[in-house]
Amino acid sequence: MIPRLAILISGRGSNMLALLRACRVGELRGLCEPCLVLSSDPQALGLAAAESLDVPSRAVSARGLGRRAYDLALLEALESVQPDWIALAGFMRILGPAVVRRYAGRVVNIHPADTRQHQGLHGYAWAWEQRLDETRVTVHMVDEGLDTGPILAQRSVDLRGATCLDDVERRGLAVEHCLYPETLRALLAGELPPFTAPRGAA
Ligand code: GRF
Repeated sequence: MIPRLAILISGRGSNMLALLRACRVGELRGLCEPCLVLSSDPQALGLAAAESLDVPSRAVSARGLGRRAYDLALLEALESVQPDWIALAGFMRILGPAVVRRYAGRVVNIHPADTRQHQGLHGYAWAWEQRLDETRVTVHMVDEGLDTGPILAQRSVDLRGATCLDDVERRGLAVEHCLYPETLRALLAGELPPFTAPRGAA
């Protein structure tokens, strides 16, 4: 059976759309099928976009829920679709241990910087403020830390001549939209080493 991919978002969802496109007509075709787009924000633009493409989608709002309660809500939603792989694509929550352990070695994330240099939010603002000539976007496995999981792939973004933060982000996203499906393809094709244990696990 074709592996099932759940994509977790919180906003615009441009990486989610790149992954869906790759599943339908690109490098992920035949390698996995989207089983769910899940958003932590019911108002997320990406959620409406997924709906319009007839991809199963739902919001699991974090509003009013503590971290553990949210993790349980997430687990329940994920278990109902039985994903083989989970791709975080601008998901603005840190996955708790219950979720990471349940899907250990099967959760990936895309980060708009080199995770060894910059973790957390605002990766492009970080690059712009330092007037970097080049930044690097990263696809990595998700462990229990904040952007600390094993790096699967990185790609350089040329920032020479960038005129503003929007320009930096535009250039970066163009690279992300290629790197994410390509890396997922390599992972699913078994071309990358398996990562089964989250860092720190016994
Ligand atoms: C991307 O820059 C991604 O690297 C980061 O969050 C942003 C999400 O953008 N994790 P989008 O929702 O995929 O357009």
